[in-house]
Amino acid sequence: MCGIVGYIGKKEAYPVIVKGLQRLEYRGYDSAGVALLNGDLNIYKKKGKVVDLHEFAKDKDLSSTVGIGHTRWATHGEPNDVNAHPHTSQSGKLAMIHNGIIENYAALKTDLLKKGYSFQSDTDSEVFINFIEDIYINTDVDLAEAVRLALTKVVGAYAIAIISLDDPTLMIAARKGSPLVVGIGKDEFFLASDATPIIEYTNEVVYLDDQEIAIIKDNSLTIKNIEDVELKPYIQTVDMELEAIEKGGYDHFMLKEIFEQPKSIGDCLRGRLKSNEGKLVLGGINDYVNKIMNADRILIVACGTSWHAGLVAEYIFEEFCRIPVEVEYASEFRYRNPVVSEKDVVIAISQSGETADTLAAISLAKSRGATILGVCNVVGSSIARATHAGSYTHAGPEIGVASTKAFTAQISVLTMMALMIAQKKGTLSERDYHNLLVELESIPDKVAKALDLNAQIEYISEIYKDATNFLYLGRGYNFPVALEGALKLKEISYIHAEGYPAAEMKHGPIALIDENMPVVFIATHDSSYEKIVSNIQEVKARKGQVIAIVSEGDTEIPKMADHVIEVPHTHDALMPLIAVIPQQLLSYHIAVMRGCNVDQPRNLAKSVTVE
Ligand code: M6R
Repeated sequence: MCGIVGYIGKKEAYPVIVKGLQRLEYRGYDSAGVALLNGDLNIYKKKGKVVDLHEFAKDKDLSSTVGIGHTRWATHGEPNDVNAHPHTSQSGKLAMIHNGIIENYAALKTDLLKKGYSFQSDTDSEVFINFIEDIYINTDVDLAEAVRLALTKVVGAYAIAIISLDDPTLMIAARKGSPLVVGIGKDEFFLASDATPIIEYTNEVVYLDDQEIAIIKDNSLTIKNIEDVELKPYIQTVDMELEAIEKGGYDHFMLKEIFEQPKSIGDCLRGRLKSNEGKLVLGGINDYVNKIMNADRILIVACGTSWHAGLVAEYIFEEFCRIPVEVEYASEFRYRNPVVSEKDVVIAISQSGETADTLAAISLAKSRGATILGVCNVVGSSIARATHAGSYTHAGPEIGVASTKAFTAQISVLTMMALMIAQKKGTLSERDYHNLLVELESIPDKVAKALDLNAQIEYISEIYKDATNFLYLGRGYNFPVALEGALKLKEISYIHAEGYPAAEMKHGPIALIDENMPVVFIATHDSSYEKIVSNIQEVKARKGQVIAIVSEGDTEIPKMADHVIEVPHTHDALMPLIAVIPQQLLSYHIAVMRGCNVDQPRNLAKSVTVE
């Protein structure tokens, strides 16, 4: 995720762009840059936040009424000055900002290299602008047409804006998969990833649809699609509070991030998984596949929600790859004297990539010769740099302190890793491998269906919002989901909650159950279904209040539970990706009803960079 802003009109462009970029920093903030036309094409870009860019640029020539700017959340290439946007074409005449991922950039780059192009950065975006320039200079078309032709050939997601030294009255923009809004002012136009940078200048906007191109030329706007059909711009009036738009219309970042999961899981799978080709590619760990296959064991180190994702991964790796796995709290691992050897593979899981305990666990394991792989969300983060290799989760910036979309993206990546190893190792039949790929590909749609339960869960939350304790119980793959449900509730609502394996209940926690104890059962239709039905009966016999998350169509549990939440069915191993959704919503609504600060719960920080 990145933020983009463009301005063409009579005002000074730079202040409009910089202010807009600051509003879009929630979309990414590892580097920022601007391109300004003023007889020359002046480009200023800097690693860090927009404020660092401004510090760097403020004494430079900023006079211009045409410009584009970008705040980056790195996907291809680490965050640094060179990889920052805008990127220029080889001639130095075209500048582009890009939000998205061009999946076929490697093939395009190979062709361009053969034609004599060279590249300064590691980004797909620099390839993209040179691909456009190559069409522009080698065919008899104008720039807008060259952009259109290029868009028919690129695969992936994009929101782009382009300016040209040859024509300061021209700005071209297009989108597919990434958002883009055109603001229409008096003798001026704006472009942005969302309306926040625009609304203080005009409330008239056009939201571009996928595969549409906006051509702003000589103070007029033309919109066409990539089939070259001109479209009538659909101008809408924006009527929203600034703050609300920053959260994409949601009351809290957490809710926005919960609802983003069909997309964030889709982004995580995109370009890596193609079930119809039986294809699973995790480029980042390709060179380490043999090492993992032959490891004595896999050690997973992580904290909090990432540790819960690690527990799910333990079950998946052991079931499909037949490799022993141990999951360690990084904070414990680093302070004891664990047995680690060069035949171990360590997987460090972290959303932020900055968690101090996880970093320390990595360095301990490294010092004992282990191979370290990372599963991080933030590109170029300390953990991503400290590991030998790894795979990013591509979930986009997670701003709410309670981790939600990072959890499901972590499980998605770890599942892909395990399936890749299992197939190569031959510990999973081709048929099961293929079925799991198909099922994994269907997860974004099933998560979307689970999100449709929001109103029902809000209703249940109202009933239990004043509870002082909660129990979460699950078995097998749903046991880590129970732990995650309990963590979500306690960290944002301050209700004491415990997660347990359902079968362990009889060894202690059952003593807590009375008519005041809500118990969330994750009781989907899996191999331990009959057993968990018995556990529900045990709770009901002691008058506990049962909220059961079940598979669609379950007829047994509704006869005994107080509330039944039906989620789409999937393979046992993938159920955590779906079963966690109602729990995230339950904790969110309860916290809101209790008046808690959902996005910034007391005593917590998004990334724990201290011991
Ligand atoms: O950034 P990380 O994934 O390394 O963070 C680990 C934990 O601090 C984090 O998951 C924390 O438990 C969250 N607040 C959970 O919602």
